[in-house]
Amino acid sequence: MGSKKFNKEFHFSNLIFVISFFLLALFSFNFPNSNYLIFSDNGADSMKIQLGRKLFYDPILSKNKTISCNSCHKQEFAFADTVRFNRGWNGKLLRKNTISLSNLINNEFFLWDGSLKELGKTIFRPIKDSIEMGNSVESLISSLNQSPDYPGLFRKSFGARGIDSSMVVEVMVAFLKSLKSEKSFFKLRMDSIIKASPEGMAKKISQENFPSKIINVLTLCEKCHSGSISYGGSQLKNNGLDFDYGEKKAPENEKLTDSGTLFKVPSLNNVALNAPYMHDGRFNTLEDVVEYYNSGIKLKKFLSEELKINGEPIRLNLDNEEKKMIVDFLKSLTDTNFIKNPDFGKP
Ligand code: HEC
Ligand code: HEC
Repeated sequence: MGSKKFNKEFHFSNLIFVISFFLLALFSFNFPNSNYLIFSDNGADSMKIQLGRKLFYDPILSKNKTISCNSCHKQEFAFADTVRFNRGWNGKLLRKNTISLSNLINNEFFLWDGSLKELGKTIFRPIKDSIEMGNSVESLISSLNQSPDYPGLFRKSFGARGIDSSMVVEVMVAFLKSLKSEKSFFKLRMDSIIKASPEGMAKKISQENFPSKIINVLTLCEKCHSGSISYGGSQLKNNGLDFDYGEKKAPENEKLTDSGTLFKVPSLNNVALNAPYMHDGRFNTLEDVVEYYNSGIKLKKFLSEELKINGEPIRLNLDNEEKKMIVDFLKSLTDTNFIKNPDFGKP
């Protein structure tokens, strides 16, 4: 009974931990719940999704009718963008990096500061924001009611004359919820493992050939980037970036979370497509992000426990090959079907 055997067992139990997490997540995801029933192929629902999609791509939403949701949330980049900060309706730069949109139904918090808890609340936020779209709900509703095509389309969907703000929210939420991205390379691989017999499963897993150190690191990531197919979206945490509302004065108009320093743990789904990274887009590449978690975490007052060891920020001590494995894992969360799916494109 040498140390070799011990290592093997250690390795295997960790592997089982990670795999069983993902199995659990996948099963809970597949479990039919009321949220998913709205995706049933029911004519009225699909009409609402189509109407929401039309609005998503329509600059009628912005004050000077120049930009749409799609100006910042682009399908080819998993409904985010590849600039650090987008510009709003009158060319002013935003202060936060645009968040990618997929599997939003699995999120418990929205926006970097996690200040919104309902998807419905995210619709008028950009429309009314003075930098983003600069519009008002009243003026949008009146533009829609005066447009040549929207009154008829809404009437078909809702059976009532006249468009009101709750209808706009309903159809746009229907479209946002339809943005499901479930075919990343990683997810497809997991699916094939599930379909295999238990024996086949163990074989496939060992073929993955992740060293135990990598499994341990991914298990750490998963503590915060948790949740079935989003790998994030359900927790607010501090990952130790050198930025602290407690130390720097919060920029004007910026809403703070209760502690003032927590951020939404973002989804890692399609993460390779929407560099730069973090709420302020400070990292240009996934390599930079992994190097940050490897050696750069700062001891901040609000640094979350997951990233501390004995009160000190964690150091992963990964070599170059190990860092590449983590980056490769992140890249395997890319779903190329999602960014090409014509159902989500400009109508
Ligand atoms: C000018 C760029 C811009 C436009 C236009 C824009 N967004 Fe965004 N969107 C952002 C940014 C930046 C964030 C993150 C803001 C924050 O956290 O403070 C964001 C966040 C979101 C989120 C939260 C996602 C999450 O996972 O937390 C949703 C949903 C969203 N936008 C939907 C929309 C919709 C719908 C429209 C059109 C009505 C729209 N956005 C228009 C830039 C934009
Ligand atoms: C303590 C919780 C926590 C742990 C553990 C954690 N993260 Fe994060 N992660 C966050 C938070 C919070 C953010 C957003 C921070 C911000 O923008 O200020 C984030 C952001 C990211 C982003 C940027 C995503 C984007 O779209 O901008 C990537 C990539 C990332 N993490 C990968 C990882 C990896 C890889 C690991 C494991 C090595 C990991 N995270 C471990 C909390 C965590």
